Amino acid sequence: EKGGWSSFMAKEVAEQPEAVANTIRGRIQGDDVIIPELDGLDELFTGINRVIITACGTASYAALVGKYAIEQWARVPVDVELAHEFRYRDPVIGDDTLVVSISQSGETMDTLMAVKYARERGAKTLSICNTQGATIPRESDAVVYTHAGPEVAVASTKAFSAQITALLLLGLHMGRVRGTLASDALEATAELQALPEKVAQVLAEETEHVSQLAGWMADTRSVLFLGRHVGYPIALEGALKLKEISYIHAEGFAAGELKHGPIALIEPGQPVFVLVPSPRHSALIHSKVVSNIQEIRARGARVIVVAEEGMPPCCRMPTR
Ligand code: BG6
Repeated sequence: EKGGWSSFMAKEVAEQPEAVANTIRGRIQGDDVIIPELDGLDELFTGINRVIITACGTASYAALVGKYAIEQWARVPVDVELAHEFRYRDPVIGDDTLVVSISQSGETMDTLMAVKYARERGAKTLSICNTQGATIPRESDAVVYTHAGPEVAVASTKAFSAQITALLLLGLHMGRVRGTLASDALEATAELQALPEKVAQVLAEETEHVSQLAGWMADTRSVLFLGRHVGYPIALEGALKLKEISYIHAEGFAAGELKHGPIALIEPGQPVFVLVPSPRHSALIHSKVVSNIQEIRARGARVIVVAEEGMPPCCRMPTR
């Protein structure tokens, strides 16, 4: 039931704080991330020297965020592979490989086949899934469920947020088991606990602002999204969402790629969303993104920044 919402998608967007909170619940004990489903399965994380995360669509963008989290905290190299590419070549995998699959439904055929393929070749398998008892978790050695609740809309929203949450938890869990956590893990764990409330705050405070922006952009033919670090996969997801929902052409880029070609697309009036990472995370990455903004504004782009509250507004939503 849509329960008063205009669409299931709008309802599911609004359910994000709950989805994120439910995914975290029971998985933080004191200062530690301990995922109870992975109890007794330490060998999945200790006897490996690489991780491959495989998924399709939105879940593959969550996977790219997962790469940052796992490499940061578990200090093991991570590759992200689209499931439909992975299983049609001859990847180098074996019992030293952990293949993590991500699927909201747990039934996407390409992802399922990638998991089966990995198992047949002796890899360890772990799935991140939103649907209890689905096929992909049944075919995996271990499962970490996202608890986003049923996602009815075809375009994934709250499941994506829950997948990223689960991957951050997995990175911290793996790092603890492998003994590789650095001091930033403590802060990250505390930030995770505060996340549902922050998501609720953004939804409460920004929804009207975003609708205004949508009105302003309704006639646009093409929109670009730029990001660095974890902002890069989020830019890709932003572009996918816009294409899928509005039929407006959209492309996501790593901001550093701008000068290697895409800058040619920046004409006066071109709307560009830029995901600005917090300077608290990395002053260097932050300043690089700010200089990208300067470059594209110099070419007349209409820049919409997505940034942390309280950051100096290097630019604001343009008015007509
Ligand atoms: C696509 C959906 O068809 O399948 C996407 O439109 C989704 O939203 C993708 O991300 C993968 O689905 P799943 O269930 O494996 O996460």
